[in-house]
Amino acid sequence: MFKLKKPKQESLPGREQPSVFKGAADWKDVLAPSVVREIGPGMPSPKGKSDAYWAEIGSTREIARYFRCFYAAITSGTTYAGMLNSLYTGDFGEADCDVALHVVPADPTRTVWDLEHKIAQLEADYAEEKNSARKQIVLHQIEELRRRHAAIRIGDQKLFFVSVQAAASSTDFDVFKRCCNLLVKRFAGKGIHLRAADTRQLQALFEMTPLDAKTVKDAFRDMESSNVADLLPFGTGGLRHRTGIVLGMDPSGGLVLYNSWYSAMGNYNVVVFGRAGFGKSFLIKLMTARSAPLGIRTAVIDPEREYENLMVGLGCPYIKLHPSSKDRINIFDVDLVEEDDGTVKVDLDGAVQAVQAVVFRMIRVYDPGVLNGQAKVLIQEKIKELYTKRNITDDPGSLCETSWDGPAIRVAGKPKKMPTLSELHFLMEREPELQKAAQLLKPFTKKGGVPAQAIFDCESTFDAKDLPAFAFSVAGLDEEIMKPLGLFVATKWAWEKFGRDRKTRKRIVVDEAQMMMDTPETARWLEDCFRRARKRNISMCAGTQGFEVFLRVPQGLGILKNSSTKFLMRQEPIDIAAVREKFNLSEGEAGFLLSAQKGWGIVKADNDATIFYGKTTDEEYRWFTSDPNDLRLLGGVGNAV
Ligand SMILES: Nc1ncnc2c1ncn2[C@@H]1O[C@H](COP(=O)(O)OP(=O)(O)OP(=O)(O)O)[C@@H](O)[C@H]1O
Ligand SMILES: [Mg+2]
Repeated sequence: MFKLKKPKQESLPGREQPSVFKGAADWKDVLAPSVVREIGPGMPSPKGKSDAYWAEIGSTREIARYFRCFYAAITSGTTYAGMLNSLYTGDFGEADCDVALHVVPADPTRTVWDLEHKIAQLEADYAEEKNSARKQIVLHQIEELRRRHAAIRIGDQKLFFVSVQAAASSTDFDVFKRCCNLLVKRFAGKGIHLRAADTRQLQALFEMTPLDAKTVKDAFRDMESSNVADLLPFGTGGLRHRTGIVLGMDPSGGLVLYNSWYSAMGNYNVVVFGRAGFGKSFLIKLMTARSAPLGIRTAVIDPEREYENLMVGLGCPYIKLHPSSKDRINIFDVDLVEEDDGTVKVDLDGAVQAVQAVVFRMIRVYDPGVLNGQAKVLIQEKIKELYTKRNITDDPGSLCETSWDGPAIRVAGKPKKMPTLSELHFLMEREPELQKAAQLLKPFTKKGGVPAQAIFDCESTFDAKDLPAFAFSVAGLDEEIMKPLGLFVATKWAWEKFGRDRKTRKRIVVDEAQMMMDTPETARWLEDCFRRARKRNISMCAGTQGFEVFLRVPQGLGILKNSSTKFLMRQEPIDIAAVREKFNLSEGEAGFLLSAQKGWGIVKADNDATIFYGKTTDEEYRWFTSDPNDLRLLGGVGNAV
């Protein structure tokens, strides 16, 4: 018998091949972690065998992130407002700290029934208890439950089931370990016991996410509404200097109040770092405008002609240091300074030092090699000689001449004329050892024949006395030589003027401060100002986009160290690693700074820190904006552009 062979079914060409639609990634492929592991004692870890429990989760952005979850058990009988704030602000170094607060309302009828039941039980215990001490304890419990019962029955309080969980995480294993230890220690003394969710780290992590369907978590505590309110992150702005200005809002809408002179801070200095165009100058203008009504005087050194609208808005002078302007300042101006013991003297040493720095800088423009040790000492002597010739000494009276001035004698005397650069040049020319240096200084004097370079060879045309604010613009000066010089001269001048009165709080703003870091004298001088400012009641404020340029020189680091307040606006990706290290930022903070919108930043004021947005009124915005499109539309308050 023959069996009929079944004809072979015609197969589709390429039947073994998977469907072309199967390979496409769906949402699960995008969301799913690349690795999910729970590690326990004895299992392999980045540092040999593990001795603890944690979870390891990978993603498309990072190979693995280590998580350790904790249940927060509130051990103290009472709660207090903001008791979890330090968990929310996550001030534990570089690692991240996430918090999950689950609040589930309890059914009031069931709660009242439960309470009545418990009270009845305790009353029975009380009747039977013979020991009088224990009787008192039971009585207290009954009283507490009765109070609760009454509050819930009349609707004064509601009962909630509350679960608080925290998770420390980092991609760096050492950082992660440090953070876990710190977290537990920090809370132990605050009536909050952080219990690690050992043997169930993954489960605990899952419970912190919205994916977990369970409403009442495994670890919970019952709480009344007022206690729950104490746990919520109201007002965790982290910066509430009550005596300060309103800087803006934090992400939860709370006010951020800031005072550079806040008593807990080491000094009053400020640095503002950030990428160009993301709000450094805007923030400095905001601080200046809001500080003026508090009696804080501000001098601004403006390299870009950005502060004119602000000064016009405040009704304060805007001095243009430019060949075609009539405004002039003399680098030889010297003023009074108040010593620690309250005595007032002429700041002659400071003036000599600053003039010397300007002169050295001018000479270096053309030949950095001319200034050997001997030349430096001789120039210093010549500067001193000029003051001596005018009989200017430490004595405040020596700044004035007592002379006939018309029909009456001036009792206080008329201010003496100060030396000028031409006079110094004249002395240097006659000193054989300084011939070469004098030649190089000449272009900066009137004799040099270049008016644009001789703008500092003159008497001052302006006095800053008692002004709430004033600004110098060096925008019209040439970028290479005169602008950095102008920045320095103007800062020095403001410093001398502000030294006089230690009772008044003052701020000197140096925007684009990186320009002063490129020569050793100016960098050293600025750093010195930051170091000495506190004694003069001055808050030095440096703004810069050149983070790397600024910190490349040791003086930049010195300025940073001597600044209690640091404002960080949006950062360049290339700078972020250095910024993170210098300011001890967490990964979350660093991530925020990479994508921060205009006006958003992080402020670190010694131990306090917060994310903030510099919120302004419409009028303030018109004073502060430097966006050319805004200025065109607004027409410029003071014809600034
Ligand atoms: N807090 C803010 N609210 C509204 N707008 C803002 C805020 N901060 C900045 N801006 C807008 O961004 C523009 C640029 O800001 P700003 O001039 O302060 O930048 P910058 O950091 O000083 O830049 P550069 O380094 O170039 O000087 C402002 O002119 C303004 O229009
Ligand atoms: Mg700016």
